[in-house]
Amino acid sequence: MTTETTAAREIPTAEWVEIPALYADPYPIYQRLRESAPIHWVPAVDRCLVVGYEASHEIELDQERFSADEEQSLMKRAMGHSMLRKDDPEHDLERKAYGGVLRPKAIKQQWEAVFERNYRTYAERLRAAGPGADLVAEFAAPYAAENLRTVLGLDNASPEDLQRWSQTLIDGTGNYADDPGVWAAAERSSREVDEAMDEMLPVLRDKPDGSLLSVLGASGMPLEALRANMKMTIGGGLNEPRDAVATTVWALLKHPDQLATVLAQSRWQDAFEECLRWTAPIGMYPRQTTRDTEVAGMAIPRGTRLGIVIGAANRDPEVFDDPESYDIDRPRKPHLAFGGGNHFCAGAWVARTSVVRVALPRLFADFPGLRLDPAHPATVGGWVFRGVLTLPVHWD
Ligand code: HEM
Repeated sequence: MTTETTAAREIPTAEWVEIPALYADPYPIYQRLRESAPIHWVPAVDRCLVVGYEASHEIELDQERFSADEEQSLMKRAMGHSMLRKDDPEHDLERKAYGGVLRPKAIKQQWEAVFERNYRTYAERLRAAGPGADLVAEFAAPYAAENLRTVLGLDNASPEDLQRWSQTLIDGTGNYADDPGVWAAAERSSREVDEAMDEMLPVLRDKPDGSLLSVLGASGMPLEALRANMKMTIGGGLNEPRDAVATTVWALLKHPDQLATVLAQSRWQDAFEECLRWTAPIGMYPRQTTRDTEVAGMAIPRGTRLGIVIGAANRDPEVFDDPESYDIDRPRKPHLAFGGGNHFCAGAWVARTSVVRVALPRLFADFPGLRLDPAHPATVGGWVFRGVLTLPVHWD
């Protein structure tokens, strides 16, 4: 193995890390890993996990050394080859084809009113379910699904279709156990998305409506890439806003003093950004080295599959004081929850508008006395994707 410097440390192996423990609560594991080195070889996940902030940030900014186009990518198998698994200039061409669909002007002119309408629909559903209802199932999940469905332009699909497609495609991208049932479900969803797109494309060609499918369809993007990008955006655009809504509500209900400040000073943006730092909805994403190289004084051979653990980077004590606690008053430093570099989340404005401007302030205004259900505590899980799974709530 040749490296750029000979003084670099070798990457240690952490054979004690196991997937069920990561799923249940990854943070003590990240702490222990970070204490000995910013990068470890973790056999259970067949990758080197990068757990330090500086190392993660350096990697996401440098596609020359760290490619998003990893070999044997499960995402490519589940969804096709989208821009998320391409480097520039190929990635850049496809990202430009997204045009202004997910950007502030379109959100203000077209989508914010849709998010408000969807908010009213699903707030009513939560209310109808009555005190003790699960805020994730009755509100956050269908709200995120219906917002995404409209922005994507899949008028022939239901929010339930979107939820099923998103979950099964994501399960495929994480199917390290090679479970045939998981592949079958992902393949079925992939076919259903293709059929829905095939039906909508001619409709949108005749009557363009500013949706993503309408804009990508008119962009000249080859059909294979168009399908892969739509599937990637279905997989990437639903869970994260759902989890951001539910996890922020949960964090605020667990910290009534901070909730009081947020309500008094309308600090929804701080509540949301601190939630993303504290529990990044996308906890890990992959990269692969294109050559022998070195990061944070550690030698990484060419072809190494890396997991950039932003869930761990966001709690690095070198960057954030008392990083394990949720604290809306901490000095604002950039978290890495939206990624960085050329793959910085294309949906960050959609997320900020639908969660910060619409869902959070309205939920707390429309459900006075919103509180946790002491008899049925919230459940939380995941590490590649992490969030509140169920959130039973009461209100006055
Ligand atoms: C709180 C909510 C969200 C979070 C935390 C989040 C996080 C991320 C992260 C970390 C990446 C980069 C992954 C990588 O480099 O491998 C990413 C990319 C992306 N996200 Fe999001 N996301 C959110 C919401 C959304 C929404 C609502 C949409 C769509 C409407 C969306 C669409 C995308 C797309 C298309 C990419 C690929 C960008 C590219 O390859 O250039 N995201 N997101």
